Amino acid sequence: MKIVVIQGPNLNMLGIREQQIYGPMKLEQIHAQMKESAQQSKVEIEFFQSNLEGEIVDRIQECYGDAQGIIINAAAYTHTSIAIRDAIAAVNLPTIEVHISNIHRREEFRKTNVIAPVCSSSIVGFGPFGYHLAMVGMTQILNEISAAQEMQKQASEDKQ
Ligand code: DQA
Repeated sequence: MKIVVIQGPNLNMLGIREQQIYGPMKLEQIHAQMKESAQQSKVEIEFFQSNLEGEIVDRIQECYGDAQGIIINAAAYTHTSIAIRDAIAAVNLPTIEVHISNIHRREEFRKTNVIAPVCSSSIVGFGPFGYHLAMVGMTQILNEISAAQEMQKQASEDKQ
């Protein structure tokens, strides 16, 4: 089982950018914690950060046939990118979007979210802890999918 974590523009600046909103934690520290949690759940995990929309679209497409789940913080592209939304819909994998801040109680333009409707769920406003919650949620989703597949396999074996 593989989960791919995709981080959008300016998230490489965590720990420096607007600490009053995003806190002092760096992206590497968040990823280190996620790696630990992945090891505990025995799932493979890969990390990707880009400031470029097309690179994010490419990385989502690469998940097709390779990964079982996506955790994404599309950052500012959340509010604008139909291309990222369409890529998520295209690969049709369980996808959890994370936002460190509560985008619903900030500027008006952050209330538009074109990504959420194609995601399995959204986690907002928990700070970096949201990524941990996403890991717990994704592990649960993947366990449910493999249990359902196992039941289906068993049912078709019983038929024969
Ligand atoms: C963000 C919220 C976005 O509105 C913003 O553009 C970001 C970070 C968050 O994690 O809270 O870059 O996605």
